[in-house]
Amino acid sequence: MNQPTQLAIDDLSEPLAYPVEAYVSRAYAEAEADRLWAKVWQHAGRVEDIPEVGDYITYEIGKDSILIVRAAPDRITAFHNVCPHRGRRLVDTPAGGNGARGSKPRFVCGFHGWTFDAEGRNTHILDKTDWQGVLTDARTCLTSVKVDTWGGWIWINMDPDCVPLRDYLEPAAGLLDPFAFEKMRYRFRQWVVFDCNWKVALEAFMEPYHVAATHPQLLKYGDFYAWSKAQGLHGNDGYASKQADDSAASTTVHRTGKGADARLMMAEMQKEFWETVGASTTQIMVDAAARLPDELPEGTPAAEVHHHWLESVKADYAAIGVAWPEISEAQMADAGLAWHIFPNMGILQGPTFALCYRTRPYGGDPGKCIYEAYAIERFAEGQAPATEWVHAEATEDNWRKVIAQDFSNMVAVQQGLESRGFRGALPNPFQERKVTNLHRNLARYMGVGAPTPIE
Ligand code: FES
Ligand SMILES: [Fe+2]
Repeated sequence: MNQPTQLAIDDLSEPLAYPVEAYVSRAYAEAEADRLWAKVWQHAGRVEDIPEVGDYITYEIGKDSILIVRAAPDRITAFHNVCPHRGRRLVDTPAGGNGARGSKPRFVCGFHGWTFDAEGRNTHILDKTDWQGVLTDARTCLTSVKVDTWGGWIWINMDPDCVPLRDYLEPAAGLLDPFAFEKMRYRFRQWVVFDCNWKVALEAFMEPYHVAATHPQLLKYGDFYAWSKAQGLHGNDGYASKQADDSAASTTVHRTGKGADARLMMAEMQKEFWETVGASTTQIMVDAAARLPDELPEGTPAAEVHHHWLESVKADYAAIGVAWPEISEAQMADAGLAWHIFPNMGILQGPTFALCYRTRPYGGDPGKCIYEAYAIERFAEGQAPATEWVHAEATEDNWRKVIAQDFSNMVAVQQGLESRGFRGALPNPFQERKVTNLHRNLARYMGVGAPTPIE
C-alpha cells in the first residue's frame, strides 16, 4: 500500500481537502472492485442469519457474490458463489436485491447438477468418467473465501493473503469489545437503493456536525458538537464541548439534554429518539425515562437524573434476565458514540443496543448504492423478534423522521459532487475527521493521492 506523503496529516488535525473522483468516476468505481472490495474485510451478515446447519446467505458486492454457509454448529464457511463447471452462479441471487438466503442440505447447480456440500466439496458430477480422470477434488470444489466472526457479525475477505480479521479491526474491536455486540439480536432491518455513491450514503451518518442544519428539532437536547478521530483504518466520534480539546472532551459521552427540568428533558428526549429514530435507545430505556418525573423531585440535578435513570434501566434489564454489560466510564469515553468501520460500515453503539449502517455499490454505477440500516439489541432469552430484510422506499413513513432527514441530503450531495463548479470537499478538521480518514485510507487502497492541505 502507498504511504501518505505528508506526515503532518497523520492525526488529520490540519484542514484538508479531497477531490470528487471517488464519488463520481466510473473508472474509479471499477477500480474499487479490484483494489478495495477484493482486499478488505467487510461484514456480510450476522451470525444469527444462519442459526442452523445448512442455512446460508449470499453477500453481493459489485459483480462478486459470496455464499456463506453454516457448515456445522460451530463452523461457518464461505465461497465464491460460482459453479466450477461452466461458471453458473451456484445460488441464484435476486437481481437488484441485497442478497439471497435460505437453507439447503447441499448446493446443486441448476445447469448440469454438479453438487457441493457445506465445506465446498464436490459430491456429484454427472458422467465424471468422461473427463478421463483429470477432475481432482481441488479442481472441482468451490473457491473458498476467508471468513471469520467478531461482534456477532460474519466478515468475509476475498484476498487469500489478507491480515487476520482481528488485526484488521483493531483498534476498533478492542475499544468495542465491552459492548458485546454478539449478545445482541436484530430488532429491525431495512434496505433501499439510492441514487448516490455508497460513500455519500455512509457519510450522511458519520458526524453530528450535520445535526444543527439537518435535524434542528434535536438541538433542544444538546449541542451535538463532537470530536472525531482517525483510529487506524477506522474512526469514531463522541460529544465534546465547544471549548474543549480532544482529551477533555472525551469524558462527555452522555446526552443529558438542555432545559430546566432534567427529568422531563430526559423523558422527552428518550421518547423522541424512540419515535423519530426508532433506534439509539430501547423500549426499556424509554419507559424508565418516562417514570423519572414520578420517581424524582423537581429540581434534581441533571447528573443525578442521569444516574437514577441508568440504575432503573439496569434493574429493569436484570428483572428480565438481561445482563448489563460491564463497561467502565473510561471505556465508554474511549468508545465514544459512533464508529466508522472501514470501508462501509457505521455503528452507533450503546450498552444494550446499536444502530448500524452498511452501504455498498449497486452494479458499476458510481451514482447508485444499496443502503441498509438495522438495529440490534439485547433481548431476554427467546424474546428477540423474528425479523427479515425489508425493502423500504425512502419515505418518512418507512424510515421515520430523523433518518428520512438524513436521506434528504444524499441525492442532493451526489448531484452537487457532479457539478463542474464544486472545488473538492472541505471536511471540518475537528468534527469530520472520520470522513477525512475514510478518504485517506481509501486513497491508500486505491493508490491515488491522499487528502491535501487546503490552499
Ligand atoms: S455450470 Fe454448474 S453444473 Fe454446469
Ligand atoms: Fe443525521
